[in-house]
Amino acid sequence: MVGPSGAGKTTLLRSCNGTVPAAAGGVAINGRALSDMGERELRRTRSELAFIPQDLALVPELRVVANVLAGGFGRGGLLTALRALLKPRRADAQRAFELLQRVGVGDQLYKRSDKLSGGEQQRVAVARALFGGPRVLLADEPVASVDPERARDTLALLLELAREQGFALLVSLHNLKLARELFGRLLGLRRGRLLFDCAPEQLGPGELAALYALDPSEDEQRD
Ligand SMILES: Nc1ncnc2c1ncn2[C@@H]1O[C@H](COP(=O)(O)OP(=O)(O)OP(=O)(O)O)[C@@H](O)[C@H]1O
Ligand SMILES: [Mg+2]
Repeated sequence: MVGPSGAGKTTLLRSCNGTVPAAAGGVAINGRALSDMGERELRRTRSELAFIPQDLALVPELRVVANVLAGGFGRGGLLTALRALLKPRRADAQRAFELLQRVGVGDQLYKRSDKLSGGEQQRVAVARALFGGPRVLLADEPVASVDPERARDTLALLLELAREQGFALLVSLHNLKLARELFGRLLGLRRGRLLFDCAPEQLGPGELAALYALDPSEDEQRD
Protein backbone atom coordinates (compact mmCIF):
# COMPACT_ATOMS: atom_id res chain seq x y z
CA MET A 1 0.00 0.00 0.00
CA VAL A 2 1.58 3.25 -1.13
CA GLY A 3 0.50 6.86 -1.02
CA PRO A 4 1.45 10.28 0.32
CA SER A 5 1.47 11.21 4.01
CA GLY A 6 -2.04 11.62 5.30
CA ALA A 7 -3.53 9.36 2.60
CA GLY A 8 -4.98 7.07 5.25
CA LYS A 9 -2.60 4.10 5.18
CA THR A 10 -2.27 3.82 8.96
CA THR A 11 -5.99 4.44 9.40
CA LEU A 12 -6.83 1.66 6.94
CA LEU A 13 -4.46 -0.81 8.61
CA ARG A 14 -5.94 0.04 11.99
CA SER A 15 -9.46 -0.49 10.68
CA CYS A 16 -8.37 -3.89 9.37
CA ASN A 17 -7.48 -5.02 12.87
CA GLY A 18 -10.49 -3.32 14.40
CA THR A 19 -8.68 -0.69 16.49
CA VAL A 20 -10.22 2.10 14.39
CA PRO A 21 -13.91 1.50 13.69
CA ALA A 22 -14.81 2.07 10.05
CA ALA A 23 -17.01 5.18 9.60
CA ALA A 24 -18.17 3.82 6.24
CA GLY A 25 -17.75 0.49 4.51
CA GLY A 26 -16.57 -2.48 6.48
CA VAL A 27 -13.89 -5.07 7.01
CA ALA A 28 -14.40 -8.77 6.32
CA ILE A 29 -11.90 -11.47 7.17
CA ASN A 30 -12.36 -14.79 5.36
CA GLY A 31 -15.78 -13.53 4.32
CA ARG A 32 -16.90 -12.68 7.87
CA ALA A 33 -17.58 -9.02 8.61
CA LEU A 34 -15.88 -7.77 11.80
CA SER A 35 -19.09 -5.90 12.63
CA ASP A 36 -21.07 -9.20 12.63
CA MET A 37 -18.73 -10.89 15.08
CA GLY A 38 -19.54 -11.39 18.73
CA GLU A 39 -17.02 -10.76 21.51
CA ARG A 40 -15.54 -14.25 21.34
CA GLU A 41 -15.16 -14.52 17.59
CA LEU A 42 -13.71 -11.03 17.48
CA ARG A 43 -11.14 -11.94 20.11
CA ARG A 44 -10.18 -15.11 18.24
CA THR A 45 -9.96 -13.27 14.92
CA ARG A 46 -7.82 -10.55 16.48
CA SER A 47 -5.46 -13.15 17.90
CA GLU A 48 -4.85 -14.30 14.30
CA LEU A 49 -3.99 -10.79 13.13
CA ALA A 50 -0.59 -9.36 13.89
CA PHE A 51 0.23 -5.70 13.56
CA ILE A 52 3.61 -3.98 13.37
CA PRO A 53 2.97 -0.30 14.12
CA GLN A 54 4.81 2.56 12.42
CA ASP A 55 6.89 3.22 15.56
CA LEU A 56 7.41 -0.55 16.25
CA ALA A 57 6.23 -0.13 19.88
CA LEU A 58 8.97 -2.29 21.41
CA VAL A 59 9.40 -1.78 25.15
CA PRO A 60 12.88 -0.21 25.17
CA GLU A 61 13.92 -1.33 28.68
CA LEU A 62 12.98 -4.95 28.10
CA ARG A 63 15.33 -7.54 26.74
CA VAL A 64 14.87 -8.60 23.15
CA VAL A 65 13.47 -12.02 24.09
CA ALA A 66 10.86 -10.45 26.41
CA ASN A 67 9.63 -8.19 23.62
CA VAL A 68 9.14 -11.24 21.42
CA LEU A 69 7.31 -13.12 24.20
CA ALA A 70 5.03 -10.07 24.48
CA GLY A 71 3.69 -11.10 21.05
CA GLY A 72 1.73 -13.83 22.82
CA PHE A 73 0.05 -11.57 25.38
CA GLY A 74 -3.15 -11.17 23.41
CA ARG A 75 -4.03 -14.76 24.26
CA GLY A 76 -4.50 -14.46 28.01
CA GLY A 77 -5.21 -11.95 30.77
CA LEU A 78 -2.75 -9.64 32.48
CA LEU A 79 -1.67 -12.28 34.97
CA THR A 80 -0.89 -14.78 32.20
CA ALA A 81 1.09 -12.04 30.46
CA LEU A 82 3.13 -11.26 33.57
CA ARG A 83 3.87 -14.92 34.19
CA ALA A 84 4.87 -15.42 30.56
CA LEU A 85 7.29 -12.54 30.88
CA LEU A 86 8.86 -13.38 34.25
CA LYS A 87 8.91 -17.12 33.89
CA PRO A 88 8.32 -18.07 30.26
CA ARG A 89 7.41 -21.63 29.44
CA ARG A 90 10.25 -23.56 27.91
CA ALA A 91 8.40 -24.01 24.63
CA ASP A 92 7.68 -20.28 24.39
CA ALA A 93 11.28 -19.33 25.11
CA GLN A 94 12.41 -21.84 22.49
CA ARG A 95 9.98 -20.43 19.93
CA ALA A 96 11.11 -16.85 20.66
CA PHE A 97 14.70 -17.91 20.21
CA GLU A 98 13.99 -19.70 16.92
CA LEU A 99 12.11 -16.72 15.55
CA LEU A 100 14.90 -14.34 16.50
CA GLN A 101 17.37 -16.62 14.78
CA ARG A 102 15.14 -16.79 11.73
CA VAL A 103 15.04 -12.99 11.42
CA GLY A 104 18.78 -12.77 11.93
CA VAL A 105 19.15 -11.38 15.46
CA GLY A 106 19.48 -14.67 17.37
CA ASP A 107 22.68 -13.48 19.00
CA GLN A 108 20.99 -10.45 20.62
CA LEU A 109 18.52 -12.40 22.75
CA TYR A 110 19.39 -10.89 26.13
CA LYS A 111 20.33 -7.38 25.05
CA ARG A 112 18.16 -4.47 26.10
CA SER A 113 15.98 -3.70 23.10
CA ASP A 114 16.99 -0.04 22.92
CA LYS A 115 20.63 -1.06 22.53
CA LEU A 116 19.89 -2.51 19.10
CA SER A 117 20.19 -0.60 15.84
CA GLY A 118 17.03 0.57 14.07
CA GLY A 119 17.21 -2.27 11.56
CA GLU A 120 17.69 -4.87 14.30
CA GLN A 121 14.74 -3.46 16.24
CA GLN A 122 12.61 -3.84 13.12
CA ARG A 123 13.55 -7.50 12.99
CA VAL A 124 12.65 -7.94 16.65
CA ALA A 125 9.25 -6.38 15.88
CA VAL A 126 8.84 -8.92 13.05
CA ALA A 127 9.68 -11.79 15.43
CA ARG A 128 7.22 -10.44 18.00
CA ALA A 129 4.48 -10.20 15.37
CA LEU A 130 5.07 -13.79 14.27
CA PHE A 131 5.18 -15.23 17.78
CA GLY A 132 1.45 -15.99 17.87
CA GLY A 133 1.50 -17.65 14.42
CA PRO A 134 -0.73 -15.07 12.68
CA ARG A 135 -2.81 -15.71 9.55
CA VAL A 136 -2.58 -12.06 8.58
CA LEU A 137 0.28 -9.64 9.18
CA LEU A 138 -0.35 -5.92 8.87
CA ALA A 139 2.86 -3.92 8.82
CA ASP A 140 2.79 -0.13 8.89
CA GLU A 141 5.91 1.32 7.25
CA PRO A 142 8.05 -1.39 8.88
CA VAL A 143 11.31 -0.21 7.32
CA ALA A 144 11.19 3.51 8.06
CA SER A 145 14.51 5.07 9.05
CA VAL A 146 16.92 2.43 7.81
CA ASP A 147 19.07 2.62 4.71
CA PRO A 148 17.59 1.25 1.45
CA GLU A 149 19.71 -1.92 1.43
CA ARG A 150 18.61 -2.95 4.92
CA ALA A 151 15.04 -1.96 4.09
CA ARG A 152 15.11 -4.26 1.06
CA ASP A 153 16.51 -7.10 3.18
CA THR A 154 13.83 -6.78 5.86
CA LEU A 155 11.00 -6.57 3.31
CA ALA A 156 12.35 -9.56 1.39
CA LEU A 157 12.47 -11.44 4.69
CA LEU A 158 8.84 -10.52 5.42
CA LEU A 159 7.78 -11.81 2.00
CA GLU A 160 9.78 -14.99 2.44
CA LEU A 161 8.22 -15.62 5.86
CA ALA A 162 4.74 -14.96 4.48
CA ARG A 163 5.27 -17.62 1.81
CA GLU A 164 6.93 -20.02 4.22
CA GLN A 165 4.36 -19.72 7.03
CA GLY A 166 1.35 -19.01 4.82
CA PHE A 167 0.12 -15.72 6.24
CA ALA A 168 -1.33 -12.84 4.23
CA LEU A 169 0.82 -9.72 4.26
CA LEU A 170 -0.34 -6.11 3.92
CA VAL A 171 2.43 -3.52 4.16
CA SER A 172 2.34 0.25 3.88
CA LEU A 173 5.45 1.76 2.35
CA HIS A 174 6.80 5.17 1.46
CA ASN A 175 9.54 3.66 -0.64
CA LEU A 176 7.80 3.25 -3.98
CA LYS A 177 10.87 1.81 -5.66
CA LEU A 178 11.04 -1.07 -3.19
CA ALA A 179 7.27 -1.56 -3.30
CA ARG A 180 7.40 -1.99 -7.09
CA GLU A 181 10.47 -4.15 -6.99
CA LEU A 182 9.34 -6.62 -4.33
CA PHE A 183 5.55 -6.81 -4.23
CA GLY A 184 3.15 -8.39 -6.72
CA ARG A 185 0.20 -6.14 -5.98
CA LEU A 186 0.16 -2.41 -5.30
CA LEU A 187 -2.64 -0.38 -3.76
CA GLY A 188 -2.41 3.38 -4.24
CA LEU A 189 -4.14 5.41 -1.57
CA ARG A 190 -4.72 9.16 -1.72
CA ARG A 191 -6.95 11.31 0.48
CA GLY A 192 -8.66 8.24 1.88
CA ARG A 193 -9.47 6.81 -1.55
CA LEU A 194 -8.13 3.95 -3.60
CA LEU A 195 -6.50 5.37 -6.72
CA PHE A 196 -5.27 2.07 -8.14
CA ASP A 197 -5.02 -1.61 -7.32
CA CYS A 198 -2.78 -3.38 -9.80
CA ALA A 199 0.41 -5.27 -10.49
CA PRO A 200 3.58 -3.13 -10.55
CA GLU A 201 4.02 -3.73 -14.31
CA GLN A 202 0.65 -2.11 -14.92
CA LEU A 203 1.58 1.10 -13.17
CA GLY A 204 2.22 4.02 -15.50
CA PRO A 205 3.77 7.47 -14.87
CA GLY A 206 0.27 9.02 -14.95
CA GLU A 207 -0.94 7.03 -11.94
CA LEU A 208 2.19 7.78 -9.99
CA ALA A 209 2.05 11.49 -10.73
CA ALA A 210 -1.60 11.54 -9.59
CA LEU A 211 -0.76 9.58 -6.43
CA TYR A 212 1.92 11.93 -5.18
CA ALA A 213 0.76 15.24 -6.73
CA LEU A 214 1.21 18.19 -4.40
CA ASP A 215 -1.46 20.23 -6.14
CA PRO A 216 -4.93 19.47 -4.67
CA SER A 217 -6.69 20.95 -7.73
CA GLU A 218 -5.71 17.77 -9.57
CA ASP A 219 -7.92 15.85 -7.13
CA GLU A 220 -10.85 18.11 -7.88
CA GLN A 221 -10.43 17.40 -11.59
CA ARG A 222 -10.65 13.69 -10.80
CA ASP A 223 -13.59 14.05 -8.35
N1 LIG B 1 -7.74 9.41 15.31
C1 LIG B 1 -7.96 10.22 14.27
N2 LIG B 1 -9.04 11.02 14.24
C2 LIG B 1 -9.28 11.84 13.19
N3 LIG B 1 -8.47 11.94 12.14
C3 LIG B 1 -7.38 11.19 12.11
C4 LIG B 1 -7.05 10.28 13.17
N4 LIG B 1 -5.89 9.64 12.85
C5 LIG B 1 -5.53 10.15 11.66
N5 LIG B 1 -6.40 11.05 11.21
C6 LIG B 1 -6.35 11.79 9.92
O1 LIG B 1 -6.59 10.85 8.89
C7 LIG B 1 -5.78 11.13 7.77
C8 LIG B 1 -4.98 9.91 7.41
O2 LIG B 1 -3.97 9.70 8.40
P1 LIG B 1 -3.04 8.43 8.39
O3 LIG B 1 -2.22 8.49 9.62
O4 LIG B 1 -3.87 7.21 8.19
O5 LIG B 1 -2.14 8.69 7.09
P2 LIG B 1 -0.92 7.87 6.54
O6 LIG B 1 -1.21 7.56 5.11
O7 LIG B 1 -0.61 6.73 7.44
O8 LIG B 1 0.26 8.93 6.60
P3 LIG B 1 1.85 8.72 6.84
O9 LIG B 1 2.38 8.24 5.52
O10 LIG B 1 2.35 10.08 7.17
O11 LIG B 1 2.02 7.75 7.96
C9 LIG B 1 -4.94 12.35 8.14
O12 LIG B 1 -5.55 13.49 7.59
C10 LIG B 1 -4.99 12.35 9.66
O13 LIG B 1 -4.84 13.66 10.14
MG1 LIG C 1 0.96 6.27 8.66
